[in-house]
Amino acid sequence: MAASLQPLFSAITFLLLIASLIGPSEAAGIVRYWGRGHDEPSSLAEFCRQEFATDVNIAFLEDFGGGRMPELNISHPLPSASDIESCQKHQTKVFISIAGQPSLSSVEDAEEVAAYVWNTYLGGKSSDRPFGKAVLDGVELHIHSGNTTYLDDLARALKGYSNVILAVAAECPIPDPALDTTIRTGVVDQVRVEFFDNPSCQFTPPKDTSLLFRSWDNWSDYPGVHKLYLGIPISPTIAPEGGYIPPNELVYHVLPYLKKSPVYGGIMVFPYLHHEVNFQSMLRSYARAA
Ligand SMILES: *[C@@H]1O[C@H](CO)[C@@H](O)[C@H](O)[C@H]1NC(C)=O
Ligand SMILES: *[C@@H]1O[C@H](CO)[C@@H](O)[C@H](O)[C@H]1NC(C)=O
Ligand SMILES: *[C@@H]1O[C@H](CO)[C@@H](O)[C@H](O)[C@H]1NC(C)=O
Repeated sequence: MAASLQPLFSAITFLLLIASLIGPSEAAGIVRYWGRGHDEPSSLAEFCRQEFATDVNIAFLEDFGGGRMPELNISHPLPSASDIESCQKHQTKVFISIAGQPSLSSVEDAEEVAAYVWNTYLGGKSSDRPFGKAVLDGVELHIHSGNTTYLDDLARALKGYSNVILAVAAECPIPDPALDTTIRTGVVDQVRVEFFDNPSCQFTPPKDTSLLFRSWDNWSDYPGVHKLYLGIPISPTIAPEGGYIPPNELVYHVLPYLKKSPVYGGIMVFPYLHHEVNFQSMLRSYARAA
């Protein structure tokens, strides 16, 4: 029992430590994903209690356009309204993350999808609301492929509704092939960039931050970027093409640099905690650096 709880406790310590080092709580976010991780709690409320997060994405709603509405695809039982509200009460904002292959055929098609998402998950009304009366805080467009024409219209239509926080999950090479037009609309509140599996713009072991920092600087100045997040894998196994940043490098070298940027928003940890991660060694590296 004690042995199996140890990695979990350490994982929380790890995220809390990062949270405390990121700086004043008004500024920094820790974005997480929930929905398909086999190691994560199957209850969203439990996830919010256990895992330190300021924003959690329910992942994913998939595939839309040409009259198709995106469908929820998670591997756990559906969270209830009270699960979601319990996250929100504990200051965790809940997003629905839209992924898969879009194929929007017109501006009207984009507006219909936006209306569907608003009515089904946000402040609108529908007879078919999987999370009942719970009103999610925002939408993340997590689109890396498919036909992305009219995605910018979808973004504008979503932001046309009141109190919708709009985020995108982009990849670090600029311009992002799927989301560039959308980012340039200027309506995106949070740009969360995956600085991994992209050797041209990621951390290079053991401690070369030059490509990462140049890419970060490029993103910081990019049109439409108001708040920028460092997207990183929680473990090297998640990112076979690299980008994993050892915790002591992250905390003592990377974050202090990023925090100088006026658009710094926080970090996005992808996708969820894996038990194979050696948290003990992370903690040892903190102890050495402290
Ligand atoms: C749901 O997601 C899983 C994992 O990516 C995938 O294998 C499956 O085909 C998806 N189901 C549907 C109905 O799209
Ligand atoms: C993407 O969709 C648009 C709108 O339907 C269409 O005009 C365009 O040809 C499509 N692009 C590709 C590469 O299929
Ligand atoms: C940053 O932007 C400059 C100028 O556009 C470009 O030459 C360079 O390759 C970019 N660097 C990275 C790492 O994205």
